[in-house]
Amino acid sequence: MKRSFLLVALFLLTVAFSRADEGMWLPSLIKERIPDMQMKGFRLTAEDLYSINQACLKDAIVQFGSGCTGELISDKGLILTNHHCGYSYIQAHSSLEEDYLKDGFWAGNLSEELPNPGLTVKFLVRMDDVTGIINNELSDTMSEAERNAAIAKISHTIASEAVKGTHYSAKVEAMYYGNQFFLFVYEIYKDIRLVGAPPSSIGKFGGDTDNWMWPRHTGDFSIFRIYAGPGNKPAAYSKDNLPYKPKKFFSISVNGVNEGDFTLVYGFPGRTQEYLHSEAIRYVSEVSNPHKINLRGLRLGVQQKEMSNDRTVRIQYSSKNANVANAWKKWQGEAKGIKSLNIVLKRADYEKRFEKWAEEYPQYRGITGKLGELYKQTESCSFANDYYNEAIISNEILKFAEQIKGVLSKKGDFFTKSNSIASMAEKYYKDYYMPIDKQSFILLMKEYLKNVPEKFHPNLPGELSLENSVENIADYLFKNSALADKQKLHNYIHDSLMIVKLNQDPAFLMHEAFFSFHRNNVKPMLDSLNKEITILYRSYMRGQMEFEREKAFYPDANLTLRITYGKVSGYRPLDAVKYKHLSTIEGIMEKDNPEIFDYDIPQRLRDLYSDWNFGRWESNGTIPVCFIATNHTSGGNSGSPVINADGDLVGINFDRVWEGTMSDIAFNPDLCRNISLDIRYVLFIIDKFAGAGHLIDEMEIVK
Ligand code: ARG
Ligand code: GLU
Repeated sequence: MKRSFLLVALFLLTVAFSRADEGMWLPSLIKERIPDMQMKGFRLTAEDLYSINQACLKDAIVQFGSGCTGELISDKGLILTNHHCGYSYIQAHSSLEEDYLKDGFWAGNLSEELPNPGLTVKFLVRMDDVTGIINNELSDTMSEAERNAAIAKISHTIASEAVKGTHYSAKVEAMYYGNQFFLFVYEIYKDIRLVGAPPSSIGKFGGDTDNWMWPRHTGDFSIFRIYAGPGNKPAAYSKDNLPYKPKKFFSISVNGVNEGDFTLVYGFPGRTQEYLHSEAIRYVSEVSNPHKINLRGLRLGVQQKEMSNDRTVRIQYSSKNANVANAWKKWQGEAKGIKSLNIVLKRADYEKRFEKWAEEYPQYRGITGKLGELYKQTESCSFANDYYNEAIISNEILKFAEQIKGVLSKKGDFFTKSNSIASMAEKYYKDYYMPIDKQSFILLMKEYLKNVPEKFHPNLPGELSLENSVENIADYLFKNSALADKQKLHNYIHDSLMIVKLNQDPAFLMHEAFFSFHRNNVKPMLDSLNKEITILYRSYMRGQMEFEREKAFYPDANLTLRITYGKVSGYRPLDAVKYKHLSTIEGIMEKDNPEIFDYDIPQRLRDLYSDWNFGRWESNGTIPVCFIATNHTSGGNSGSPVINADGDLVGINFDRVWEGTMSDIAFNPDLCRNISLDIRYVLFIIDKFAGAGHLIDEMEIVK
């Protein structure tokens, strides 16, 4: 009796303890987590992480581009991010003659660093809870539309007042399904230059075979530098700009990590849905993911075949291919995790308990039942929507038609429009290989016609009619559309009848048919159901916070800056298998195989290894490469700094393990692990492999 009591107590304790690794915390509220963090080994204070009075670690973190994170590592604006975050920029600088994706790139000095038009980095200046101000403008009698309009109006006022007289930008973001609101003030730098990148055989080692997997040996990093104009302020690219002087940059620890060590990840996770209803989770794991996986698998098959036949095509499609493959693989892990952990049933069980509790709270009674009903009603539209995105708009020629239409619909004269189409076209054709697009189109359209109910098939004129064989439709489309042919489109652009001609173009016609069908027959239904769902979630979320008063809640990720902390830890992916927390260069050598593209490492790395030429980055006779921990991360956390208990940089976050990718919907402390690059491997590659010791000299290395 006593023993079982003890066991139960112990069980509860470990649950409470490990549960706590779940969470993406708002930096300005981190004080509330500090006691728990310190108990787990953290040695800094809340002010060290986030402060508006002094330089702190948040000032050394940027959102890199629109979907990654980066961190400052020198007083000259040097930033680290992932190789896959820099990938499209590295690709843009690459050609057959100078292929930086293949061979890597290292600027020997400042003047060799390469500008990247369009790339920005964003610092968080400060954030404030503005819930009170917004709620003042709202009342219970407002309709949803009135409420949204009021929120938009006051948010606009708050944001513009916050940045008045400054060069900052600001945005108000809703948290907890519109129960709370925070103002975020940002400073955005626009001159970001490429400094260094290893060859893909290091930076993307293991490719899509190893992606989302542990054990991992990918050297997934690249280096950029922020440049500033006069007064260290943001400025458009100019050769007169100087390296940015940061308020704060990370010092780098080469002491490494051990199992059980505290780690903290500070970055910009994109989107999670931790409070999702069971019915929505069922749809994701049993319907949506399987279909989307199939569609992407078909595209990948075509791409891979053509890429392996031709080096130019390989460069053209490398970035697109990686993007298609990334979600394709993630969705598989996610669906599998949801199934094997019985998450749909568990969530349904939670909903039952919630409803039992809500019997005494009329404002919350019956919410989960209603949500379930609404989700069932949305299923057919959601399905059509998924196919619209993954089987229609994913055809490059149709997507391009959409972009051109976007330009035509804007205000402006003929010349402005034709110029902007011309510059779009230049970018588009640089990476376009028509046979890939055409073969994919045939496969995707067949799936569409087979799986999407007929009531969602739009009418198309003449040769494009969906009654014809898909092969014939494709022949007609790709033979006759100007968009499939660079020269033909070029001729159109300089023709005064451009707009008339484009509007009769088969790609335009096809896009228009699907687009307007979607706009008229799918979207309105989906939007109106989603509106009802959103309203219910707002109460449901509030209800959950009352239902579980002792629980520490965190808002779903929404691309705002977050802190997540946990510990270095291996895991058990399968019965009888235990994974260690750390991988080493030995594993790279085990995987090395010149016959397999993903595993063919550069000869120089082989030589460094066989000569045991590890320099000062060696640890226990080897070079550590990657490690895993229980930090709760998501897409967007790529490139995030991974710091130890003292706030020193020990790694760069870049991935999660396959068995744990359902953490965007349900975090499981036994299986969810983030994967980080060990900073010592990064330093080893920069120093010994690339011979770019001048970059190391800029950094602050602590022992
Ligand atoms: N899975 C990582 C992330 O979600 C890395 C993706 C890039 N690598 C790739 N092989 N596609 O972004
Ligand atoms: N690779 C992801 C990214 O680009 C991070 C992995 C994840 O989704 O956790 O943000």
